[in-house]
Amino acid sequence: MYNSKITGLGYYVPDNVVKNDDLKEFMETSDEWIQERTGIKERRWIDPKSGDTTAVMGAKASRIAIERAGLTKDDIDFIVFATLSPDMYFPGGGVQIQEMLEMPTIGALDVRNQCSGFIYAMSVADQFIKTGMYKNILVIGAENHSGGLEKSTRGRNVSVIFGDGAGAAVLSRSEEAGKGILSSHLHSEGKHAKELALIGPSTKRWVPEIIEANDPDDVSYYPYMNGQFVFKHAIGRFSEAIVEGLEANKLQKEDIDMLIPHQANLRIAQFIQKKFQLSDDKVYNNIMKYGNTTAASVIIALTEAWEKGKIKDNDLVVLAAFGSGFTWGSVIIRW
Ligand code: ACO
Repeated sequence: MYNSKITGLGYYVPDNVVKNDDLKEFMETSDEWIQERTGIKERRWIDPKSGDTTAVMGAKASRIAIERAGLTKDDIDFIVFATLSPDMYFPGGGVQIQEMLEMPTIGALDVRNQCSGFIYAMSVADQFIKTGMYKNILVIGAENHSGGLEKSTRGRNVSVIFGDGAGAAVLSRSEEAGKGILSSHLHSEGKHAKELALIGPSTKRWVPEIIEANDPDDVSYYPYMNGQFVFKHAIGRFSEAIVEGLEANKLQKEDIDMLIPHQANLRIAQFIQKKFQLSDDKVYNNIMKYGNTTAASVIIALTEAWEKGKIKDNDLVVLAAFGSGFTWGSVIIRW
């Protein structure tokens, strides 16, 4: 059986920086409140005039990852694209990347797992490589949240958190034993689906129905989050996913060289850091700059950490995420 190794990484965030104080234009909030509760100082929101979309950002990140892998777009055998904010209701965004990068007619699969989307996407790609079916897979996480947030005092508990961006990794076949992705661990608990969800438009709440109701109090087409409920579950599930990954590989928390947690909230990441007794150089956070970019957050953070030289050959890298669904998981990598 083969192993899969990350051979290329890339990310892209829009140029438009929105600082906490800029949000006061739309809502009653403060830099102090946002930083204290979430750690966020600023986020990137697409300037509608820029031409950036979820797929466009995904394609930009992908070009960098493919080049860094020393490959061309023709070497990619398959695409796995994680997003909750595709450019279109259907088809999914993977086919748009295939077209934008002028790739041959390879398969393209969309993963709908929100904040843990990149973890799920990596796991899917890893299985395809381990079985020998594909050699090089492009795995992307990208989100355009900004256009769909309720930018008002009513929606402030959600809208201040989310940012736009994209990241991509190339996973390639390797025959080096004990290196690359060691294991991945995926979970879900659908009974909490409504605690962090966007209900309409959907097939339970079609667009004509929303238009006909013409209800100014209808918030079903904005994301809803039961913040404290999500917070509590996130802390527990993050920890479980990390422990499960370590145990599966007979490793201890002391073996972790770099933890890349999904950038949901700096307070969650700090709680996990403390629980696993990790020093500051063993956890990478960038939510301060980008907010929560959902399926893009883990891959943007991984890429930045790698670019800064914080990940070295043979390091044990742990990726972990929790989010809407609820879904959660971890990926354990020997770099
Ligand atoms: N600015 C100022 N005041 C605000 C804001 C804001 N942006 N948002 C809410 N408030 C107010 C509320 O109106 C409320 O005021 P009140 O007491 O007068 O009614 C008060 O602040 C407390 O509101 P809560 O919603 O209870 O605030 P909480 O302490 O729970 O913090 C937060 C909200 C930051 C979202 C927190 O619950 C949280 O981090 N939850 C975790 C969920 C998470 O990380 N989600 C990220 C996305 S999902 C994922 O990736 C897993």
